[in-house]
Amino acid sequence: MEQYKKVFENNRIWIKEREKSNKAFFHHLAQGQNPDFLYIGCSDSRVSAEEMTGTQPGQMFVHRNVGNLVPNTDLNSAAVINYAISYLHVKHVVVCGHYGCGGVKAAMEAKDLGILNPWLRNIRDVYRLHQDTLDKIKEEEERYKKLVELNVQEQCINIIKTAALQKSYLQHAVPTVHGWVFDMHTGNLIDLNIDFETILHRIQKIYDLGTH
Ligand code: CO
Repeated sequence: MEQYKKVFENNRIWIKEREKSNKAFFHHLAQGQNPDFLYIGCSDSRVSAEEMTGTQPGQMFVHRNVGNLVPNTDLNSAAVINYAISYLHVKHVVVCGHYGCGGVKAAMEAKDLGILNPWLRNIRDVYRLHQDTLDKIKEEEERYKKLVELNVQEQCINIIKTAALQKSYLQHAVPTVHGWVFDMHTGNLIDLNIDFETILHRIQKIYDLGTH
């Protein structure tokens, strides 16, 4: 069957399966959402947020873009973060990168990619910030993997800089920010265990928005 038509066939099968295990599944789904997670990941078709985490519809608020970026002046991710924290009151904000990321790879190459240039410059900025660490890694694949991890870490910091995060965390002690990397060679989801509290305290010395 043509892949396009197959999508709708799959949808009909999915409805039947969902209703078989829970007759009121769609009734409940339509009542509203109360997700614990905001997930910010790469648009890469191989990184499926819900499938790899076993989360159900309603459990994860999702934002994806090329390279899982949270640029300081990006209205799109800012709106998502603001809504998720201030209105949905998510408990965890996750930035999930992945090894083999085409966006990160492109940012390591000397190449003019047109409209992608200013977007990927955010990743080149991460490289510049951590140039000493990265340049010490001689093996290109290892350097590439490290940049994927550092990019996740820097995007987490960009989230911690926001008024929405600082205000919510100081008043309600949620959400915490996490950095993950998906390894598609093994399927493993790796928690980078970023030190949220330490970063927050350090960040607040410079990016204090007087929200406390
Ligand atoms: Co990617």
